[in-house]
Amino acid sequence: MTASALFGTYARADLDFVRGEGVWLETADGRRFLDCGSGIAVNALGHSHPHLVNALKAQAEKLWHISNLYKVAGQEELGQRLADATFADRVFFSNSGAEAMEACIKTARRYHYVNGRPERIGIITFEGAFHGRTIATIAAGGQAKYMEGFGPKAPGFDQVKTGDLDALKAAIGPTTAALCIEPIQGEGGVREVDAEFLRKLREICDAEGLLLIFDEIQTGVGRTGKLFAHEWAGVTPDLMAVAKGIGGGFPMGACLATEAAAAGMVPGTHGTTFGGNPLAMAVGNAVLDVILAPGFLEEVQRKGLLLKQRLAAVIDAHPKVFEDVRGRGLMLGIKCVRPNAEVLAKVRANGLLVVPAGDNVLRILPPLTITDEEIGEAVARIEAAAAAVEADLAKEGDGV
Ligand SMILES: Cc1ncc(COP(=O)(O)O)c(C=O)c1O
Repeated sequence: MTASALFGTYARADLDFVRGEGVWLETADGRRFLDCGSGIAVNALGHSHPHLVNALKAQAEKLWHISNLYKVAGQEELGQRLADATFADRVFFSNSGAEAMEACIKTARRYHYVNGRPERIGIITFEGAFHGRTIATIAAGGQAKYMEGFGPKAPGFDQVKTGDLDALKAAIGPTTAALCIEPIQGEGGVREVDAEFLRKLREICDAEGLLLIFDEIQTGVGRTGKLFAHEWAGVTPDLMAVAKGIGGGFPMGACLATEAAAAGMVPGTHGTTFGGNPLAMAVGNAVLDVILAPGFLEEVQRKGLLLKQRLAAVIDAHPKVFEDVRGRGLMLGIKCVRPNAEVLAKVRANGLLVVPAGDNVLRILPPLTITDEEIGEAVARIEAAAAAVEADLAKEGDGV
């Protein structure tokens, strides 16, 4: 085999998908997989959703790109729809999650700068967080494994333990600008943050004059059964990073802000060549057409509960393989007893795609359009994978 010309940054599975429809993916050699990973929580409406395909094709025939030097078709509309549906008044479109986070970080710092507190640059985040792979967002995540070899940690980022209010209060100082948290940690292992803790963060920010940033890149756009996960806690942020599901597979992200938080972002302070381009806007608007349609999110909640209950039964039946199921809506995680890589291999061998995460978890993130029958099929395949892991254990003489 010839050496690949690609960077060696990914440990890719030897799977070569060539087409997808709904929750199903097909490889070049004709094998079909049930996709409960959605390209890491991206394909919110599955593969080849007709409404998204039509929106992209229609825009592709009109105009692809013009830059933010001009008005961009669909940006005002999508921005307004996001503002109408959330706490936000202002939206900045990016190409990715990390860039949406960068926009949040810069906006928070500028807020203090224009309010006469330029020393307030510090962002406090929470252990196990993941906010992206840029120099600033690896510092925000604070995980050594993502920072190693990339020089000194960017200044202005500190981490405290989720739930530890005393540690948080001790970490807040005169240079603190904002607190930033994922309402459910995704990469960290589908770890849900207590609603009461989110409410406390809001109180602290209000008392200390800090901004609250929610990273809803993975949890947003219907994934948990609400448009955004923080709605479950009844708390709103000042800034929010969105990506993944909003493009349904087309690369895009957004930073959402209140009027006050965005006040410093005047012409020249931030920008992007591609962000908010006409193709992305057409698809983003089409995604919202579906997700905001009456009853859609209620269905996600119902199917999420069904999947969680069915998974709980599998976990009960296989205590040597699985420990528990966690998460909300269609953002679920099963904590493994056996190494998650070993379980993942068996899951894949049974024609099901899921995504590994920290804390020895496998993430189950199906398209929000998954049907009850497909949920049944996914659970059956996880059950078969568990049985296969147990069979291996028995062979090794551990007994099951
Ligand atoms: C919570 C969270 N923040 C940020 C990111 C980074 O997004 P991207 O990979 O699009 O830059 C991710 C991606 O997995 C994420 O889950």
